[in-house]
Amino acid sequence: MKKMKSKREGLERKFRNDRIRIDTRMNEILPGQDVEPEILHEAMRYSSLDGGKRIRGLLCLWTHHICGNRYQEAALNASSALEFLHAYTLIHDDLPSMDDDDIRRGKSSCHIKYSPAIAILAGDALQALAFETLASIKSVPAEYLLGAIRTMANSGGSRHLVGGQAADIRLEGTEPSAEKVEFIHLNKTAELIAASMEIGAIISEGNTEKSKRLRKAGIMAGLAFQIVDDLLDLEGNQNIVGKQLRKDSARGKITYPSVYGPEKSREKAESLISEASRLVGDNGPAGLIDYIFDLIINRIH
Ligand code: IPE
Ligand code: IPE
Ligand code: MG
Ligand code: MG
Ligand code: MG
Repeated sequence: MKKMKSKREGLERKFRNDRIRIDTRMNEILPGQDVEPEILHEAMRYSSLDGGKRIRGLLCLWTHHICGNRYQEAALNASSALEFLHAYTLIHDDLPSMDDDDIRRGKSSCHIKYSPAIAILAGDALQALAFETLASIKSVPAEYLLGAIRTMANSGGSRHLVGGQAADIRLEGTEPSAEKVEFIHLNKTAELIAASMEIGAIISEGNTEKSKRLRKAGIMAGLAFQIVDDLLDLEGNQNIVGKQLRKDSARGKITYPSVYGPEKSREKAESLISEASRLVGDNGPAGLIDYIFDLIINRIH
């Protein structure tokens, strides 16, 4: 019992420390807000630093850890790259022409704090910075790095993240169906979470059977992540979640609860996480990936 408690405390400490390491690295990479054009760099920093849970960055870093942890500094840069890309998607997701959300991470969304034009540009620049960050990694074999860049580009493109966002918007107000929600959630959310795990693995050991298996686990965990996000919109506490809630059904969004109801959605998320955990298999002695999977399923923000 005592041993279990100290293992948990160790994981919590590692979680806090590694989040700080990712934030610190992102801060070092981002242009300072005194660099011209100051307003753009300020907006990029405002929306990417200070506030995110860093689930994608941590999945990359910790998957790298369980795959041998060979290039830790490179993995930290890759984690930062994934969080830059993710921050861009949130800025654009909140725009008036998309979900039209005024609050993100407990503060004004980028377009409210600055303007829609600056928010579009800050998002564009964060996406470019994500690729620059990944491509500037020096220590890992070029073949591994190319694989990581290709994986991030593929997950962020029209076949996946942006395509999922397009479907999410285009299908608003239409009849919910299992097929639609699967397509949207898989692409808008699960693919980047899967890419985060895959990139962590690729940077350690290249494209292997294991990196493919971890990618599959990431798809399941990513689907569960978006199901929980849908449930938080329905049942969460806005002050804790830090974004406007009870909006999905008002906008006619296709969500898991709109297709299956909240109870079945919860069951689905739980069974996806168990399957993801089974696929990951050996987590290393610390149980790193299961710790994040547990966070995904039990998160309240
Ligand atoms: C929000 O992602 C967008 C979704 C895919 C649901 P997160 O909940 O990971 O956002 P942050 O980075 O912690 O703010
Ligand atoms: C966002 O999904 C997915 C991406 C940003 C790619 P949501 O629209 O459900 O995310 P929230 O609820 O605004 O964070
Ligand atoms: Mg959205
Ligand atoms: Mg949204
Ligand atoms: Mg949501």
